[in-house]
Amino acid sequence: MCGIYGHIKKNGEENSVLVCLEGLRQLEYRGYDSAGIAGIVAGNIVSYKAVGKVSHLDAIVQASPRELDIAIAHTRWATHGGVTTENAHPHFDQNLNVALVHNGIVENYLTLRTFLEKKGIQFSSDTDTEVITQLIAYYYQGDFVKSVRKALSYIEGSFAIACIHKDYPDTILAAVHARPLIIGICHKTGDVFLSSDTNAFMGRSLDIFYLHDDEIAAISRERTEVYNKKGRKLTKITERMALENQKISKEGFDHFLLKEIYEQPTTIRRTLTGRLDSNKELPIFEELTVTDDFLKGISQIKILACGSSYHAGYIAKHLFEAYAKILTHVEIASEARYTDFITTKETLVIAISQSGETADTIAAVQNAKRNGATTISICNVERSSLSRESDSTLLLHAGPEISVCSTKAFTSQLTLLSLFAIKLGYLKGLAKNKVKELLSELALLPSAIEKVLRLESQIQSNSEKYAGYSDFFFIGRKHMFATALESSLKLKEISYLNANGYPAGEMKHGHIALISKNFPTVAFCGNSETLDKLLSNLMEIKARGGPILAFAPLSAQEIETIADDTLYLPETPDWLAPIPYAVAGQLFAYHIAKIHGTDIDQPRNLAKSVTVE
Ligand code: G6P
Repeated sequence: MCGIYGHIKKNGEENSVLVCLEGLRQLEYRGYDSAGIAGIVAGNIVSYKAVGKVSHLDAIVQASPRELDIAIAHTRWATHGGVTTENAHPHFDQNLNVALVHNGIVENYLTLRTFLEKKGIQFSSDTDTEVITQLIAYYYQGDFVKSVRKALSYIEGSFAIACIHKDYPDTILAAVHARPLIIGICHKTGDVFLSSDTNAFMGRSLDIFYLHDDEIAAISRERTEVYNKKGRKLTKITERMALENQKISKEGFDHFLLKEIYEQPTTIRRTLTGRLDSNKELPIFEELTVTDDFLKGISQIKILACGSSYHAGYIAKHLFEAYAKILTHVEIASEARYTDFITTKETLVIAISQSGETADTIAAVQNAKRNGATTISICNVERSSLSRESDSTLLLHAGPEISVCSTKAFTSQLTLLSLFAIKLGYLKGLAKNKVKELLSELALLPSAIEKVLRLESQIQSNSEKYAGYSDFFFIGRKHMFATALESSLKLKEISYLNANGYPAGEMKHGHIALISKNFPTVAFCGNSETLDKLLSNLMEIKARGGPILAFAPLSAQEIETIADDTLYLPETPDWLAPIPYAVAGQLFAYHIAKIHGTDIDQPRNLAKSVTVE
């Protein structure tokens, strides 16, 4: 995780410290354990560091403001070493000649640290990052680029780094291996910016380029030069990017999470917009670069994803199998990256990632590509690293998701996957009238979600009733299984309570041993095909004194004789029910978390984008 930002002032008027603070605010989703900025003043390295969020760093800057013309900055998600000021980036060598920020992990840091300590070098943090910094200083003999190249040649693992040296007061060196870093030059002022994510360039019009693996960029006021591993100068093609300043506000909601939950009728409409043919009878994906002929010939799909995106993939598996009759496997990307990936020419890999920056998902796609698979990614963020790795990308158009806990991206993923399953179904021979019927059901989704949102106060009352428990099970069958997983993840993430989802049929294989009056079960009853089976499971829980909260369709009134509490949700066909039921689960988790007073938008220990393994 971690976010990197940097700025060199040329003819612009902005103070590099303030530019970096603004950049860090945009990158805070990548980690918020600590933040820091370093620059050079009168030949000396100066810095600010703060534990906690960027607002803490801001307060420290305000207390002793400085004008800098060059700065590197960082927001941290702790990997090596606790959350302390000493471990906050930027890191320095022992003589304070070099300052460096890093995103990634140095896997051989212990070997390198031991080597440097034997040479008498004193370390002042527990981080892997300090090893790179000290190594650069150790190899420095008057040529900054050479010392960085030499130091990086010993690093195993992944990195994006930006560093400064006090002998080079107007230069930032940047380098990457398997982590993103984008450099942008303002065509009006000549100021240079660097960032882990182009969205942190919002409000600026820049000529940008991406650093590729093992390239080193030497960025100064006068010129930006890029070298390959061997030191050969490269010519980079830039692209003009003018991202308008987007007003990111809670719009009167207490939290971004709640605002994003309420956005879902709109975001789902946006995901669907422009994706039907002129007669509204067939799905179309104009941005797809893989041909219909290829799609017609697919014999298996592999879905790769992590977290909520994995749950979306799991739900979509049923749709690809039901409508397109294509054998579909769903794999957690951190596992899939190390498997012997068996593909044929007819394998389609679909990688799902809100951010498009999840390290494991990117690595799993690379593994799939090495094995000859054709890859489509489904992302919410444009120009993400995952998009650049994939043969084709489908964008969610859900708008920036600020809350770490995913809501609107998840339901847009499901919407897009549903539409894509219908397209594949059509190509594989699904009758045109069935396609029409499915599309008309899909079109009713926004109003189904609006109905769920109108139930918020009822859901809140149930949250109040259940907030006192510390352990929860979430269960469902078929389409509702991964919906239950997703809802348990929401509760876990933002309330810090123990919540576990499992397929209801697995109950007797262990889970039931935990049932007691102190261990409630939240049942997702939206899969009519398996409702009777689920009701039997609930009877068995009731017989053992376990409290039951059921989310169910109105037609399933018999649930009242079993569940302690029932929340009736709009009637929705089984294949689409995960979407309104997930929204109900989001509201349930939100209100429990609110009662517990947690940091709902930025829960402890989490980050929105998991850029390390
Ligand atoms: C993190 C986020 C989750 C997200 C997961 C996968 O854990 O907190 O909300 O589902 O990463 O992220 P991705 O961007 O790949 O969907």
